Amino acid sequence: MDSLALPCLILLCFPLLQFLSAATTINLGSSLSSTSSNSSWLSPSEDFAFGFRQLNNNSDLFLLAIWFNKIPERTIVWHANGDNPAPRGSTLELTATGLLLKDPGGKTIWDGKPDKKVSDAAMLDTGNFVLRASGNNSDYAWQSFKNPTDTILPTQILDLDSVLISRLTETNFSKGRFELRFSNGSLKLISVAWPSRFQYKSYYTSNTGSANSTGSGHQLVFNESADVYIVKDNGQIVQLPQWAKLSPRVDHYFRVTLDFDGVLAEYAHPKNSSTNQSWFPTRTLPDDICRRLFNEIGSGTCGFNSYCLLQNGRPFCDCPPGYVLADPNNRFRGCKPNFWQGCGPDDGSRNAQELYEIREFNNVDWPFGDYERLEPYNQTECEISCLHDCLCAVAIYDGNRCWKKKLPLSNGWLRDTGFSKVLFKVRKGNFPGYSDNSGSKKERGPLFLLGAFLLGGSIFCNAFLLLAILIFLKWRRRKYENNVQDSSTSETNLRFFSYNELKEATGGFKEELGRGSFGIVYKGVLKSASGKAIAVKKLDRLAQEREREFKSEVSAIGRTHHKNLVQLLGFCDEALNRLLVYEFMGNGTLANLIFAIPKPDWNLRVRISLEIARGLVYLHEECNVPIIHCDIKPQNILLDNYFSAKISDFGLSKLLLSDQSRTHTMIRGTRGYVAPEWFKNAPVSAKVDVYSFGVMLLEIICCRRSVEMEVEEEGRAILTDWAYDCYAEGRLDVLVDSDEPAMADRSRLQKWLMIAMWCIREDPSKRPTMKVVLQMLEGLLEVPNPPCPSSFSIAVTGS
Ligand SMILES: *[C@@H]1O[C@H](CO)[C@@H](O)[C@H](O)[C@H]1NC(C)=O
Ligand SMILES: *[C@@H]1O[C@H](CO)[C@@H](O)[C@H](O)[C@H]1NC(C)=O
Ligand SMILES: *[C@@H]1O[C@H](CO)[C@@H](O)[C@H](O)[C@H]1NC(C)=O
Ligand SMILES: *[C@@H]1O[C@H](CO)[C@@H](O)[C@H](O)[C@H]1NC(C)=O
Ligand SMILES: *[C@@H]1O[C@H](CO)[C@@H](O)[C@H](O)[C@H]1NC(C)=O
Ligand SMILES: *[C@@H]1O[C@H](CO)[C@@H](O)[C@H](O)[C@H]1NC(C)=O
Ligand SMILES: *[C@@H]1O[C@H](CO)[C@@H](O)[C@H](O)[C@H]1NC(C)=O
Ligand SMILES: *[C@@H]1O[C@H](CO)[C@@H](O)[C@H](O)[C@H]1NC(C)=O
Ligand SMILES: *[C@@H]1O[C@H](CO)[C@@H](O)[C@H](O)[C@H]1NC(C)=O
Ligand SMILES: *[C@@H]1O[C@H](CO)[C@@H](O)[C@H](O)[C@H]1NC(C)=O
Repeated sequence: MDSLALPCLILLCFPLLQFLSAATTINLGSSLSSTSSNSSWLSPSEDFAFGFRQLNNNSDLFLLAIWFNKIPERTIVWHANGDNPAPRGSTLELTATGLLLKDPGGKTIWDGKPDKKVSDAAMLDTGNFVLRASGNNSDYAWQSFKNPTDTILPTQILDLDSVLISRLTETNFSKGRFELRFSNGSLKLISVAWPSRFQYKSYYTSNTGSANSTGSGHQLVFNESADVYIVKDNGQIVQLPQWAKLSPRVDHYFRVTLDFDGVLAEYAHPKNSSTNQSWFPTRTLPDDICRRLFNEIGSGTCGFNSYCLLQNGRPFCDCPPGYVLADPNNRFRGCKPNFWQGCGPDDGSRNAQELYEIREFNNVDWPFGDYERLEPYNQTECEISCLHDCLCAVAIYDGNRCWKKKLPLSNGWLRDTGFSKVLFKVRKGNFPGYSDNSGSKKERGPLFLLGAFLLGGSIFCNAFLLLAILIFLKWRRRKYENNVQDSSTSETNLRFFSYNELKEATGGFKEELGRGSFGIVYKGVLKSASGKAIAVKKLDRLAQEREREFKSEVSAIGRTHHKNLVQLLGFCDEALNRLLVYEFMGNGTLANLIFAIPKPDWNLRVRISLEIARGLVYLHEECNVPIIHCDIKPQNILLDNYFSAKISDFGLSKLLLSDQSRTHTMIRGTRGYVAPEWFKNAPVSAKVDVYSFGVMLLEIICCRRSVEMEVEEEGRAILTDWAYDCYAEGRLDVLVDSDEPAMADRSRLQKWLMIAMWCIREDPSKRPTMKVVLQMLEGLLEVPNPPCPSSFSIAVTGS
């Protein structure tokens, strides 16, 4: 009988309970087939399914897998044949000797063959697919939990010598570049040479090996309440170093996955899919893979010639100027120069300084690849030396010494500012942000031809051809430069705009979008780039001594990438004109949304608050150089076409503030949102943003401004005080003005009020960090009862 028809029939004929127990057992002789309809065996709760999954949408290839069955993502947690996908029409059979996956021709693709005889199989509610041994119902002849791929689930235990292998990319289930090995008592994360799988040194280890007298790691346990720890052979439990403790949640699914980018992450997903939330990481290892993964051979976290920057705890790979992604579909495959780099046929004979120029690209370090050290040298000498050396791809100059490096560059990572100067040799005529993949081919073709003719032809022909080719190249270059002029910027490199171009794009700075503390913002449309809408900010007061730093600050802002930050597209820096060009946000500011009538939906407000918190965590903790915003308020949060919140104006305070100690400057920020330490002589830290976030969170919750002078009741004028009073009296309904969806979500409402109270504590050191705030908002950390706020806010806002 058809395997799918059987449970259906039972469902129709018997009460539910009987169906459930019947569905758990899969009898010998049952089979699944990878036809166009997806067939699977479900666990009794239907949380998990085992069966065939189509790879990509339209492909004729299938994966035998286990997945979360109740959430929209249908996330795969185990797979059998990632390296060897099954064609349409393949079958899986359950026999007394085990599982057998065969292609339509009858050839075995994969098997799960235990050494014991099998009586039947079951998909368990834990996500474990088991083959029961015949004669003993509690003995498993084979189980997916003991043959993990890249994911483990709660209740799963890894014994010594277990291995997890990452997949190659998000959607390609072939064996990838990273492994988790639990051997010799320690958990290790290792990168391997791909595809030969030679093991490089580990980039994380739990150090629970036998050399320590207190016993050696014996099992890696992911327990029922989503805690991950190592049990030693003496019974002692050891938490993974650097992995914070979680407060347990029963309403979430959990998994720990070794992702394709090498990060081991624990994820949670609300079981109730109507909350619209998807998987979010709760903990990750290692803390900074860009820095930890470091080998003399191999490319490092990212591919060769690229560099790694950390975003939300994950590596992001980018290319230096003059280089483009080697595989546009896979950022981890490295970068290649978009010009001919090396000792080719066009070198030597012509003046290198006509062909190449130096681009400074600071603060990125490629620790290996040095082949020469010149000392003492000044920067000019260093640059000229590299330009004239066909082996030299980049030179590092530290004030006295000049190191020359050759390709490929490896282990690149973005360092803090203050690292030596990184001088890239690029071909003239290439725009820094230009990333047309065909660029290198265009240039290479004729040059290779040239080489070939020089070797083979007569002198006369050569001279003639040489002339023809040079003319062709010149024409080519001109065309190329013209293309470059109006090419839009790539996603990572900033584009340089001329003042006239922006004047034209904004129709002579006509349509004003708003006036901020840094200047006026105008709407514009880029003529060249398919009519893309932009927002142009004209900076009006740049501190004198900051002018030199304008470019480097702007490029630091340009290097931030987060979906909750407004993306900087480019800038103009001509004489006294300094303008920043941003993506245009279709739905205006958060202030327009929350202070409007009727109030926006509670769930939308909840989502927006979480998004802002994520953006701030990124600015404070995940950028290479932490960025303090200093002016967080609803007017500086923009909403895109999907009402996703994006923080704007970040990074500007540093640029425009002439002295960070602010003794002789005005207070930055806006009345009602500024933290008390601005008024004292206390140092200003990221906690000022936490304060402003707290005030803004209250505004989002209550849909009213932090200060309202025209209110009937005096006690209501200052939002922070009124909110605390209402909270203390338990009168949340007054606070949200009987907002029904908010009252229905009372426990969140109460918790978030408490979080806001913690954010606006007077003593900055008592305020939580944004990361902790985010974890509390997400419900991952408990929120302690807040103390009564000081009356300081009255003094501030009343002045
Ligand atoms: C099979 O599953 C894939 C992925 O889950 C889904 O996109 C597709 O629509 C399913 N096909 C059918 C016929 O249900
Ligand atoms: C697969 O489907 C998703 C949405 O269902 C779509 O966005 C994507 O473009 C599709 N990919 C292919 C290769 O068809
Ligand atoms: C059945 O298997 C379990 C687990 O392996 C084992 O503890 C038990 O002794 C076995 N029972 C028999 C009767 O073999
Ligand atoms: C996965 O990547 C490998 C290596 O690039 C490739 O051979 C294979 O075809 C890919 N698999 C799928 C399903 O795309
Ligand atoms: C485990 O320890 C042994 C002996 O110290 C060593 O030879 C082996 O390479 C180690 N294995 C791993 C995976 O580190
Ligand atoms: C033993 O433990 C200490 C601290 O817990 C650690 O620093 C050391 O590396 C460990 N040694 C081994 C061999 O695991
Ligand atoms: C999981 O482990 C933690 C401690 O590591 C413990 O507090 C908790 O009770 C355990 N949960 C279960 C279900 O065993
Ligand atoms: C899921 O969440 C929605 C809205 O948050 C709620 O109405 C519903 O009762 C929840 N369902 C379950 C099963 O908890
Ligand atoms: C869930 O997300 C979708 C797409 O992002 C959106 O259209 C929908 O309104 C959201 N639903 C809720 C309840 O937030
Ligand atoms: C660098 O050194 C060269 C040769 O010693 C000298 O001509 C040049 O002026 C120096 N440049 C600077 C900027 O000091």
